[in-house]
Amino acid sequence: MGQTLPKPGLRPFLPADTPVLAAIFAASIEQLTGDDYNEAQQEAWASAADDEEQFGKRLASGLTLIATLQNSAVGFAALRGADHIDMLYVHPGAVGQGVASMLCEALEKLAGGRGAKSLTVDASDNAREFFAMRGYVAKQRNSVTVNGEWLVNTTMQKTLAGGASPGGAT
Ligand SMILES: CC(C)(COP(=O)(O)OP(=O)(O)OC[C@H]1O[C@@H](n2cnc3c(N)ncnc32)[C@H](O)[C@@H]1OP(=O)(O)O)[C@@H](O)C(=O)NCCC(=O)NCCS
Repeated sequence: MGQTLPKPGLRPFLPADTPVLAAIFAASIEQLTGDDYNEAQQEAWASAADDEEQFGKRLASGLTLIATLQNSAVGFAALRGADHIDMLYVHPGAVGQGVASMLCEALEKLAGGRGAKSLTVDASDNAREFFAMRGYVAKQRNSVTVNGEWLVNTTMQKTLAGGASPGGAT
C-alpha cells in the first residue's frame, strides 16, 4: 500500500523565523544550484543571509510566507512591492513535494487579490523551468554582481488571471 505524503501547510512570516529561513536559504543554494552556478557564485549568493539582522529586515519588508511540513518550516517565498517575487527557496530535504508550487500559488493569489495584473521574478537558472511550467514567460537575461561575483538570472513575467480586463473575458 502506498503512503500519502503529509500536505504542506502555510503561514505568515514572524521575525523569530529569521534564523531558520536563513538556514533554508543557504542550504537551498548550496545543495540545489550547483549545476548552474559555480562554488564561488553559490557562496556569494548565500552570503546574503550571513547578516541575519539584514536578512530579517528583507523578509519583513515584503509579504513573506512560510511553508511547513509537520509544523517545521521547509520553504519560504517573499513578495516585494505589489508584483515582484523577491525570494522562493525550499529546503533540499523537502523538494519535489509541491512546496514551491504551493508558495507560488499563494503569492499569485494574494498579489492578484490586491490588484496586481502580473507578477515578475528574476529567476535563477535553477528555478527557470519551475517558473516556466507555472506560466511565467522569459523577458530578459540579466547579469548581476552579488558580493563580487557575477550571476545570471532571467526576468520572467506571468499575467495573473484576476488581471483580465473588466468585461468578463475568460
Ligand atoms: C526551484 C525550487 C524553488 C523548486 O522547489 P520544489 O518545492 O521542489 O518545487 P515543486 O515540488 O513545487 O515543483 C513543481 C514542479 O516544478 C518542477 N521543478 C521544480 N524544480 C525544478 C527544477 N529545478 N528544474 C526543473 N523542474 C523543476 C517539478 O518537477 C514539478 O513538476 P511536476 O508538477 O510535473 O511534478 C527549489 O528547487 C529551490 O529552492 N531551488 C534553489 C533556490 C532557487 O533557485 N530559488 C529560486 C530563486 S528565484
